[in-house]
Amino acid sequence: MNGKKRIVSGMRPTGPLHLGNLLGALSNWVEMQKEYDCFFFIADWHALTSNYEDTSAVSDYVRQMMIDWLSVGLSDEKSTLFVQSHIKEHAELFLILSMITPVPWLERNPTYKDQIVQIENKDLSTFGFLGYPVLQAADIIMYKAYGVPVGLDQVPHVEITREIARRFNFLYGNIFPEPEAILTKTPKILGTDRRKMSKSYNNAIFLSDSPDRIRSTVAKMITDPQRARRSDPGNPDVCNVFEFHKIYTDAETVDKISHACRNAEIGCVECKGIMAENLIKALEPIRNKREHYEARPKLVDDIITDGCNRARKVAKQTMKKVRSSIKI
Ligand code: TRP
Ligand code: SF4
Repeated sequence: MNGKKRIVSGMRPTGPLHLGNLLGALSNWVEMQKEYDCFFFIADWHALTSNYEDTSAVSDYVRQMMIDWLSVGLSDEKSTLFVQSHIKEHAELFLILSMITPVPWLERNPTYKDQIVQIENKDLSTFGFLGYPVLQAADIIMYKAYGVPVGLDQVPHVEITREIARRFNFLYGNIFPEPEAILTKTPKILGTDRRKMSKSYNNAIFLSDSPDRIRSTVAKMITDPQRARRSDPGNPDVCNVFEFHKIYTDAETVDKISHACRNAEIGCVECKGIMAENLIKALEPIRNKREHYEARPKLVDDIITDGCNRARKVAKQTMKKVRSSIKI
């Protein structure tokens, strides 16, 4: 398409998107739309690998995710936006790739090893969880991606994808390019409790939050822990609220706040209030677009159907070649 290089990336629909997702991945994707032929999809089958016991929320999350994407500026005209499970070809390619993928490649996958120990409340000893990167490889090479924008934690999966593509090419003929990981910056923002922002830590500000919810979440944020009283001088360098100011408040005001904080001339309540209002203003266009799409369910359905049709066309061509290469 227009001689642009193709990139492919996906997100698991595990809940509403938050500022960490926006500043980490999504704003990057929005920028990349100018330069690349982008295929972005919602990896709902991948959401099953760890959440297979209760699947009741997945389809709602898929829809909400598409609305979040459209609201932040992913464009169904510039990019191909689709849902993994609607393209059954992914399952077929996954099956074929699983035949040629040595199990030790999967067992030594660092992301797998980490999660198996970290996530204790779920039984992850399933074939699907071990095979997660094989499905991911199918997602990526299906569209002959040149690049895969991902965070650091996903780099091993792109590496396995390259190995699987290489092995397929070696066994059956050269049809897949080896994709490269394109590292997205890690978000310069933490959750309200200073841990990594995550839905499961209950420390997130969601793109879909109302102004009132943002105000009350910001009011509860941890500030400089050494600053006990309004009359104590604070240190903005260790204050998470100040990190948000650096993103959402104009540079001049940021300087003033820094100075006032160090001299106990501003209280944390007031300081948070300023930040909350700036954050609310920054998210306003996203909120407005979300309202637009929420009021038009048919439009969202059509966008999903259209994106899936475009993706399926490419997937069908790839699978034709795959089937003839493996002679089945
Ligand atoms: N594993 C990715 C994640 O958890 C999601 C994903 C699935 C993906 N398939 C993909 C990312 C293909 C990039 C390309 O974030
Ligand atoms: Fe943080 Fe602002 Fe309080 Fe200073 S005044 S500690 S920057 S919230």
